[in-house]
This record gives sequence, C-alpha cells and structure tokens, in this order.
Amino acid sequence: MGRLDGQVALITGGEGSVGRATARAMVREGCRVVLAGIAPDGLAACRAEFGDDVAAVLRTDVTDAASVRAAVRATIARFGRLDIVFSNAGVAGVIAPVAEYPDDEFDRVLAVHVRGSFLTCKYSLPTLPDGGRIIINSSVVGLTSDPGISAYATAKHALVGLMRTLAKEVASRAIRVNTIHPGPIDNDFQHAIEVAATGAPADRAAQVFDEMIPLRRHATPDEIAAAVLFLAGPDSAFMTGATLVVDGGMSA
Ligand SMILES: NC(=O)c1ccc[n+]([C@@H]2O[C@H](COP(=O)([O-])OP(=O)(O)OC[C@H]3O[C@@H](n4cnc5c(N)ncnc54)[C@H](O)[C@@H]3O)[C@@H](O)[C@H]2O)c1
Repeated sequence: MGRLDGQVALITGGEGSVGRATARAMVREGCRVVLAGIAPDGLAACRAEFGDDVAAVLRTDVTDAASVRAAVRATIARFGRLDIVFSNAGVAGVIAPVAEYPDDEFDRVLAVHVRGSFLTCKYSLPTLPDGGRIIINSSVVGLTSDPGISAYATAKHALVGLMRTLAKEVASRAIRVNTIHPGPIDNDFQHAIEVAATGAPADRAAQVFDEMIPLRRHATPDEIAAAVLFLAGPDSAFMTGATLVVDGGMSA
C-alpha cells in the first residue's frame, strides 16, 4: 500500500529538478501525476521517464489563465480526479540592488510565482475534493532575505500570504494548504544564482553557500520531495496554514 494510492497530483514546473523528484516520490506512493511546465527538453525527458499509465506531461504556462485552466481540465480528462496540487514553477530573476533592478524582470518574476500560484490554486480548487491538499513551493527567502533578490524574495514572501488566506478559506472543506521553504538545493537553478551572486566559479560559489548553512551542505532534490510528500500525505493530517522550513538551519 502506498501513502497516495489512487490519488492524482498536478505539479507545476513538473519538468524541473524539484518537480521531477517530487513526481518520482509520489509515483512510488501510488499516485498518478501530471507534470505541467514550459521547458521543451524537460517535458520531453519526463515523457521518456514516466509511463503513460502513471503520468501525463503538459505544456503549461502558469502565468496564463487559459493554459492553467486547460491543464486542470486535461488532468480530469486523463485521470478522472485531482487530489493534490504542488505549485512549484519558478524563475530566479536577475541579481541587482533595488535601485537598479529592471522593472520588466521584477514583473516577470512576480508573474511566475505569485500570479502563477494564484491561478494554479484558483482553477484547481473547484475540482479538488474535500480533503484535497495544496502545497506551494516558497523558499527560505520567503521568510528571510538577502541583498539583490528583491523580486524573488518579494514573490516568495507573497506566497505565504496566498497560502495563509487560502488555508482559512478552504478549511471548512478539509482542504489543507501549506508552503515549503527549501534552502539551497544542489541543482542548476541554485548554482546559477550562486554564480551570479558571488561572481565565483560554480564550485567555489557552492562552497560559499555551504558555509552559510548550519548543516554545511545543500539539500538534494529528493530531500525537498520528501517534505512535499509529507504535506501531501496522511502524516500531516492536522497541518494547514503552515510554513515548513527545509533549509539545513539557514533561517534559524
Ligand atoms: N533550487 C533551489 O535551491 C530552490 C530553493 C528554494 C526554492 N526553490 C523553488 O523550487 C521551485 C522549483 O525550482 P527547481 O530548483 O526545481 O528549479 P528548476 O528550474 O529545475 O524548476 C523550475 C521549473 O519551473 C518551470 N517554469 C518556469 N516558468 C514557468 C511558467 N511560466 N510556467 C510553467 N512552468 C514554468 C521551469 O521550466 C522549470 O522546469 C521554484 O519555485 C524555486 O523557486 C528552489
């Protein structure tokens, strides 16, 4: 028996590092998954990795309402139900002080994270059964911040507001809504941020970040997936409106 037997999850940014690790973890627990994203190579890799019986792979832009509505409709058409939503699509934006931060880049980062999560929640909710779960991927910088990341940190903080509001709106249907707050993960997304932030080569930049993390290392994508699985499954049955920090102590 898997902890998610017979259930169906929609994962935005599903073709990315954390999205795909989470899909694998959910499939191992008996869940079928819909991987919704925009990167052609990643979507193709997902099609090659996951069988049609357990997964559907969709081109979906979370900033576009029609695209998100279509993804929810396709999930129901393919698997007949939707129990779990993992709002995970993300972009880092550039690193620059507020006074120099490009306006259009600020808008783009907020559109993917904030508008994207809003639309994903909004259009999933009518199809979620009582007892459904929504997990929103924020970040350690949804609770703290650092210089240069105004767009990303603002967006990740905003997701906490969305989560808290929604958790109270849908609690009467026993739908649980929580955020996760990963620290630096050992993947391309984070390594690009580290190189941009430090100006050092990737290995040295990663060391600089390791020194800021009390556990002295990055998370693996699988460790983040395990936290999502916890919030998606029965072991977190009394958790809603919570911010689950998975950051090796970085925000302590
Ligand atoms: N990597 C880290 O260290 C870290 C830490 C904390 C939080 N996060 C968050 O985790 C989430 C997943 O990131 P990741 O580390 O797996 O990086 P990733 O780049 O591998 O995954 C992000 C995915 O989102 C997709 N995406 C971007 N814009 C989209 C859009 N408009 N519509 C649909 N999909 C879109 C990308 O194609 C990509 O596949 C992001 O929200 C990120 O902010 C990452």
